[in-house]
Amino acid sequence: IEKQKMYNDRVIEEFKNPNNVGEMPDADGVGTVGNASCGDIMKIYLKVEDNIIKDVKFQTFGCAAAIATSSLATTLIKGKTIDEALKVTNKQVVEGLGGLPAQKIHCSVLAEEAIKAAIDDYQSKKK
Ligand code: FES
Ligand code: FES
Repeated sequence: IEKQKMYNDRVIEEFKNPNNVGEMPDADGVGTVGNASCGDIMKIYLKVEDNIIKDVKFQTFGCAAAIATSSLATTLIKGKTIDEALKVTNKQVVEGLGGLPAQKIHCSVLAEEAIKAAIDDYQSKKK
């Protein structure tokens, strides 16, 4: 019996070659979110200039779905305004990946939350 594939090829590709991985020591905003029940953590760093997200990096300690969604979500917000970035939803990210297994949808929520947390941090520092 062939084992049912958990992830589609798009997700596996994004997981193997993620964009925007890394740290950003001079970030203008940092957002860290986690799922206390499993210990998975996602951290997003933003560099903002004139209200535009000039650069974004992420560090994710989680499953393949979490890495793939971090990668796609950071790609989606790079070059966007803060307002546009706030509108990025986990649903969009999941659609961009061609779908995720139902039990992995919650991992994509981390990416949306981490972006919002990083923007919050940026906005509170600006004041
Ligand atoms: Fe931890 Fe999915 S099990 S975020
Ligand atoms: Fe924990 Fe996906 S991040 S299961």
